[in-house]
Amino acid sequence: MSITLPALTPVEASLFLTLCCRALDNRSQHPVLGDEIADEIVRALEYDHERLHTNTDLVLNVALRAKKIDEVAARFIARHPDAVGLDLGAGLDTRSARIAPPSTVDWYDVDLPQVVAARERVVPHRARAHTIGADVTDPDWLAALPTDRPAVVTADGLVGFLAEDDVKALVDRLVDHFPSGELVFNGYTRFTIWVARHARGTRSVADQVRFPGMDDPREPERWNPALELVEEMLISRQAEIAQFPRALRTYYRLQAHSTWWSRKGTLILHYRF
Ligand SMILES: C[S@@+](CC[C@H](N)C(=O)[O-])C[C@H]1O[C@@H](n2cnc3c(N)ncnc32)[C@H](O)[C@@H]1O
Repeated sequence: MSITLPALTPVEASLFLTLCCRALDNRSQHPVLGDEIADEIVRALEYDHERLHTNTDLVLNVALRAKKIDEVAARFIARHPDAVGLDLGAGLDTRSARIAPPSTVDWYDVDLPQVVAARERVVPHRARAHTIGADVTDPDWLAALPTDRPAVVTADGLVGFLAEDDVKALVDRLVDHFPSGELVFNGYTRFTIWVARHARGTRSVADQVRFPGMDDPREPERWNPALELVEEMLISRQAEIAQFPRALRTYYRLQAHSTWWSRKGTLILHYRF
């Protein structure tokens, strides 16, 4: 049965790009992520992904970055069964279903109120998974969360839509709120921000991009001294590149020889605090 959602603003509607990429990855012969729920949601919404002009490279990058972020969150939860998990700018993503945390973990999907209302209509409910309808740049939304448990905070596709000062203030609030934790998000260099503004595959979100880009993964350590870089993951160096079609595999294997060049592609930044 088709579900019709209320019209979303352009920033909110950016969720369809990543959702459709994960659905298309699931429909491919050798999925990288294999997110069946994303596929089911796209089918239930009868969303026409053709209008987004995605391509295989973008689909694989979105699927692989989601997988890497999932892995960081899953490892943290395995070490901290009392953790809270947060997915900031969650859209219609079902990270907690993919990670399947134990019942001792509370998971919070945070997005703008209209998106959270849409989530509640289309995303299957899970025990101990909560939603928060808020602008993450608003200083008050964190007040609803526990202050005495370690937190793993994920943000997949969010940072590009925030001004740099808003990202810094958000990091400060997260670090102040939780006793300890980890933060993992897909990073943007100045070049990848330029690409997001100009490439055909991201045309649907180009006008919404506000982050200027960050070329040094250690820069957040200077924003807040409690943050420590754990790892910069360059997509070109991930084992899953072996599953990519031959032309892309060859390209990324060449790229993997150069950190400078690899930073022109997808990267995941992982910090502890
Ligand atoms: C590209 S989508 C990514 C969605 C999801 N993480 C995924 O991977 O499918 C970006 C998301 O960030 C949300 N977003 C943008 N600015 C936000 C803000 N200031 N506060 C909360 N959510 C925001 C949008 O509503 C959208 O759902």
